[in-house]
Amino acid sequence: MGRLPPFAVEDWMEEHETKAKYNLAETCCDSISADHLQTLCEDKSAKVIDLSKRLNYGSIRGSDVLRTNLSRLYSSRAATPLPPENILTTPGAIAANHLVFYSLVGPGDHVVCHYPTYQALYEVPASLGGEVDLWKAKFENDWTPDIEELKGLIKSNTKLIVLNNPNNPTSAVLKRSLMEQIVELAKEHSITIMCDEVYRPIFHSISPMDKEFPLSILSLGYQKTIATGSMSKAYSLAGIRVGWIAARDPEIIQKCVATRHYTTISVSQLDEQVAAFALDPNTVHSLLRRNIDLAKANIEILEKFIIKHDEMCEWVRPVAGTTALVRFKRDDKPIDAVQFCKILLEKTGVLFAPGKCFGDEYEGFVRIGFVPSTVVLKEGLQKVQAFLRKEFDDLPLAA
Ligand SMILES: Cc1ncc(COP(=O)(O)O)c(C=O)c1O
Repeated sequence: MGRLPPFAVEDWMEEHETKAKYNLAETCCDSISADHLQTLCEDKSAKVIDLSKRLNYGSIRGSDVLRTNLSRLYSSRAATPLPPENILTTPGAIAANHLVFYSLVGPGDHVVCHYPTYQALYEVPASLGGEVDLWKAKFENDWTPDIEELKGLIKSNTKLIVLNNPNNPTSAVLKRSLMEQIVELAKEHSITIMCDEVYRPIFHSISPMDKEFPLSILSLGYQKTIATGSMSKAYSLAGIRVGWIAARDPEIIQKCVATRHYTTISVSQLDEQVAAFALDPNTVHSLLRRNIDLAKANIEILEKFIIKHDEMCEWVRPVAGTTALVRFKRDDKPIDAVQFCKILLEKTGVLFAPGKCFGDEYEGFVRIGFVPSTVVLKEGLQKVQAFLRKEFDDLPLAA
């Protein structure tokens, strides 16, 4: 058990984000203001925030209206509805994930985590004394991890399988058939599955009618499942810091409540009001339409860029999410992506995130966030194109 190591991608963003003119390292769908949110609501008399409400702690586990709206999201494609009582709000998904790990993992517990992924998903369980193994998805296999490898990682003390679907940084999805196999395996060994679903439901290139359309982990008929989510990515509202834990098993929620009393008491009432407004049936459809349309339009722009530069870079085109992990190489050797990102930012104002933020094996890759406004993406990629034309041959290769 030990202290947490540096959080590489968050360090990178903190150091560089404010210097970028074109932030293509961002993972959120183009953020919106409260005024903009108001315009997306069909009920023009509805207010985003009721300023007359007293600002006490409110409902400790999350406001009834917000949890009801959330339960609707998880009930629409599930055989059994998810009651609002099975949801707990948190300050962002980052706190939701932490709370689940703190409540469920301790010394002697084995955890398997889908990889590459957001660093917190494996470092936090390790810092709590958990023994963590990584279930690796490989570029060569379209970022689809192998179920046989997962079977080989399971031990008698495996307590938790951690998934991230759609994934950050690859945006690859775990298809429905693979999810079903994971659930079968977990059931057999009575292992809990936690799936970080912050990029749901940004599915820009796969239809909900597709038989492999990835369902929420809560819709697969297994009791020991937990989904975490937030308003930050798919709903463009990172600034309100509202996330949640949703679980099929009320006992899991109860354990998280017991921990949360020590860290959160309740989530900001103003933030929860904004989240409830955004997830209200009068607003949520137009908000998601905006963001899925934006992702659809923007991925085409990014795809054109990649095809045009295919002697320099390659990718697995994602069907979901907001980011892509793109490999840059010269004479078949990976470029030094950290230097590439630094020089690119200095000379053009475009920010990418180096793949190394997700592990040394992702040297040569950069993560490109493709769902800012279309103008920012287009202009940013034009700057990258001009830069590559002049500077690509001089970029350092990876050691
Ligand atoms: C997979 C994943 N989970 C959780 C988070 C944290 O998001 P937030 O706390 O803003 O909800 C992020 C942020 O990048 C993420 O990519």
